[in-house]
Amino acid sequence: MRQGPAQIGEVSVSGSAMSASADGWALRTQGLVKSYRRRRGVSVPAVDRLDLNVPAGGVHGFLGPNGSGKTTTIRMALGLIRADAGQIEIFGTQVPQRLPEVVDRVGAIVEQPKFFPNFSARRNLELLATGIGTPPAQVGKVLEQVGLSERARDRYKTYSLGMKQRLAIAATLLKDPDLLIFDEPTNGLDPAGIHAVRLTMRQLAGQGKTVLVSSHILAEVQQVADTVSIVGQGRLLAEGRVRDLLASAGGGFVVRATDPVATGELLRSAGFRLTQNPDGGLLVTLAPDGSAVDGAALNRFLAERGIFAAELYRQTDSLEQVFLDLTAGVALGQPSPPAPPTSPARPPATSQPPGSQPPPALPSSSEPLR
Ligand SMILES: Nc1ncnc2c1ncn2[C@@H]1O[C@H](COP(=O)(O)OP(=O)(O)O)[C@@H](O)[C@H]1O
Ligand SMILES: [Mg+2]
Repeated sequence: MRQGPAQIGEVSVSGSAMSASADGWALRTQGLVKSYRRRRGVSVPAVDRLDLNVPAGGVHGFLGPNGSGKTTTIRMALGLIRADAGQIEIFGTQVPQRLPEVVDRVGAIVEQPKFFPNFSARRNLELLATGIGTPPAQVGKVLEQVGLSERARDRYKTYSLGMKQRLAIAATLLKDPDLLIFDEPTNGLDPAGIHAVRLTMRQLAGQGKTVLVSSHILAEVQQVADTVSIVGQGRLLAEGRVRDLLASAGGGFVVRATDPVATGELLRSAGFRLTQNPDGGLLVTLAPDGSAVDGAALNRFLAERGIFAAELYRQTDSLEQVFLDLTAGVALGQPSPPAPPTSPARPPATSQPPGSQPPPALPSSSEPLR
């Protein structure tokens, strides 16, 4: 039987390990499958037995390279296309079977919404509000929520891409939903637009809403998400808190000293584990007792031996690297000796393709989810 994906922190597939809030899960899928028929008759699953667990509250990044099944998953969750197999729940309600019961709790941007170019943002939203039976007073509120109040009377066609995207977000907020699903909302935006959308997502989470945001740009999600699910070829590769994922990804402290060779030898002979970076910096990954490196202790150790580091700083792998490792089928972190209790266990690296082995298991953290 296929085993579960990498578990990071307390978000777990079973759900039992998570200190779920009173609201529990905003969105869950179990064994979700969707195949599209290809021209030559073969059908490859776009979504392949996917188990997603999106906790209620906070920003959840739905990460994966292009073509990994993110949009397909979102479209199934919204009842836009039918799944071949599997279950989907939104706030504990089965969809699409009981979608009408929760539809007002969900707002989504999947495709670029259409607005009238010659109407103002406010007028566009008023028309939408009328269409869905939302009181017009809500329009001013949502414009404020996305920071467009000042420009609300300007015509839509004069808006920057970032403003257009924020207006799209405003439109999803008209119903005051609890779960917002944004499919690659920062695609095509300039840095200022990306920043504004990111800020809006954080603010929505701050108001207690759940934001599910898909992206193939990992660095972006790394900055905005509390928790993530990483998918590749329609399968879940890892899930959990961003900070746990990063912590499990290895890293350590970089030391720069005038004589890197002598410093390296000294540290090695004392039992530190380290590697030499191509630029001459020493990456110290484990303390002599096998625990994670404490920067202050490392600094003291060197100073007591007359070595004064020109630089000493923490280096964490980026989510990008973690993601590349995962999708390349390489286990997280580097091979290391049996892990001590305080340091995450790191499975040995392998070169097998994804799917031919269970994804790496990550340690559980005892901290609460947020
Ligand atoms: N309407 C469709 N018909 C046929 N194949 C599709 C269709 N939509 C998506 N696919 C295929 O399904 C896979 C997943 O696509 P998608 O869900 O759009 O991925 P993502 O959103 O992660 O980029 C891709 O191989 C894509 O080519
Ligand atoms: Mg997509």
